[in-house]
Amino acid sequence: MSVEDRLELPSYLHHSEAVSARFAEIRKRPTVMSLSAVSRQFDSAEGPVLALSKVSFDVRQREFISVIGPSGCGKSTLIRIVAGLETCSGGSITIDGREVGEPGADRGMVFQGYTLFPWLNVKQNVMFGLKMKGVPKPKAERAAMDWLDLVGLTQFANHYPAQLSGGMKQRVAIARALANEPRILLMDEPFGALDAQTRASMQAHLLKIWKTVDVTILFITHDLDEAIYLSDRIVVLGAHPGRILEIIDVPVTRPRHSDQFLSGHFLATKKRLEQLIHDRETSAKHGAGKLAIVAA
Ligand SMILES: Nc1ncnc2c1ncn2[C@@H]1O[C@H](COP(=O)(O)OP(=O)(O)OP(=O)(O)O)[C@@H](O)[C@H]1O
Ligand SMILES: [Mg+2]
Repeated sequence: MSVEDRLELPSYLHHSEAVSARFAEIRKRPTVMSLSAVSRQFDSAEGPVLALSKVSFDVRQREFISVIGPSGCGKSTLIRIVAGLETCSGGSITIDGREVGEPGADRGMVFQGYTLFPWLNVKQNVMFGLKMKGVPKPKAERAAMDWLDLVGLTQFANHYPAQLSGGMKQRVAIARALANEPRILLMDEPFGALDAQTRASMQAHLLKIWKTVDVTILFITHDLDEAIYLSDRIVVLGAHPGRILEIIDVPVTRPRHSDQFLSGHFLATKKRLEQLIHDRETSAKHGAGKLAIVAA
């Protein structure tokens, strides 16, 4: 029996006044991104596989949205489609009302694997996109140093990626993505390769950055605590086919801090996520869920 089962918890659907007021305020903001019936089919040896089926949701300006779900449910496929790195087989995605088809400066991406250019130092990595856009070098350098200041890496501007820890590399990757001033920051399990302590400090750091910068975040994770701690809303995907099971308005007040991990609202949300994800995984292992092979 889990801790959550032994405690009397509030309903995860119950919102305090502060949380209700925050959601009311978020709902008044303009929609930055809109996913409408996004589907993606892949060919496999067994036939076509429906990786994503009719995924629809809207994201408001400066919202923090996480997508969570079991391995193989289509999280990376979804974020890659949003990034324009992958096409969808059906449906559409708009950003500020314009349909998305290919990568663009309005979207910045941070992946789990470290993707810094090893031959460039930290400052040059952060300047990269600005230089590509034709920003004059002194201006790009000043901007890069401002972003490095924000992620706390000013002293490492002249270091090379090989000289940095995993957490530092990801902070540079975040600075590099934000330097292009994207409307949306797309993050696919960015802290997945970090040890627990570094991961926790990166989560707190990301919230601090997000507070300072006007950016909307779409964040993929496997980690239930991480999703609750960071997000305004959590999109829960089920597997085979990847589809939305529920979108949860996180009932935990902001600003967030680690003490809240044991609060009733936090644990109630975690329990709901566990029901949606783990109970289904267990029943799928026992044969209740079958791989969705699309009839050719
Ligand atoms: N290029 C591809 N060709 C064929 N099948 C693919 C391709 N990319 C993804 N898939 C399939 O689509 C499904 C979703 O994959 P995806 O990588 O999006 O899952 P995920 O939720 O990100 O998983 P994980 O949590 O393990 O990262 C899987 O069944 C995968 O095998
Ligand atoms: Mg993935």
